[in-house]
Amino acid sequence: MREIYEPEFVKKLFNQMSNSYERMNFITSFGFSIIWRKQFIRKLKKSDQEIKVIDLMSGLGENWEYLTKHYPNANFVALDFADEMVEKSRRKNLRQLGNRFKILHQNILENKLKSQDFDIITCAFGLKTFNEEQLELLAKTVNRILKDEGEFSFIEISKPKAKILFFPYKFYLSKIIPILGKFFLGNPNDYRMLWLYTENFDNSQKVKEIFERNNLRVKYDSYFFGCATGISGKKIATNNNNL
Ligand SMILES: C[S@@+](CC[C@H](N)C(=O)[O-])C[C@H]1O[C@@H](n2cnc3c(N)ncnc32)[C@H](O)[C@@H]1O
Repeated sequence: MREIYEPEFVKKLFNQMSNSYERMNFITSFGFSIIWRKQFIRKLKKSDQEIKVIDLMSGLGENWEYLTKHYPNANFVALDFADEMVEKSRRKNLRQLGNRFKILHQNILENKLKSQDFDIITCAFGLKTFNEEQLELLAKTVNRILKDEGEFSFIEISKPKAKILFFPYKFYLSKIIPILGKFFLGNPNDYRMLWLYTENFDNSQKVKEIFERNNLRVKYDSYFFGCATGISGKKIATNNNNL
């Protein structure tokens, strides 16, 4: 089981899925992924200042269009470690976003990001492939790279608590999606893996606790009855703990 959280394993999985990921993301969430992306970005205060924003586990750049609308004058950085995802996102950056994003090809768990450098951190659907130890490292990084009072928002597909939703959702993600994956999108096993990660991830409650332990003020967010959950909040200023 530990093997599925090894960076090399995760990287290979996303490299293999890079051709079909965007379509599959849309299908697996019944189109909700688009709504959820807008909603999780709206957890952050809009700004037309020249702030610095980083999109972590940025994949194919699925969040970028929404981010540029939310922060029209920001300087953008994106980070991902899967070669194929990065390569395709570079093309999207050039063709659709006027090269506004500086794309870093790095593992977030061994990153070279400067401390206290970012006003905003976003991350969509990049939490489930981390185990607890790695989430702890991620929280430390978020704390380190955010400026005081800097904000963050994360979202991830989750297991809804209501049984009426859980069982059909589980059936859909664990059985139907791999079949769709086989016929339309490539390798069914890759998409079966996504359910396994979701099953282990459960929801963002554990992530909330880990982030709170790392001096971050955290709010738990639920999207469409818990089919996705996330966290949003702020870095508590070093010399001002009364936020
Ligand atoms: C499920 S995709 C999400 C992509 C995109 N953010 C979205 O909204 O659809 C997860 C991405 O996280 C990246 N990733 C996973 N672990 C990573 C790590 N340790 N460092 C950098 N990127 C990572 C993968 O390569 C993949 O592109």
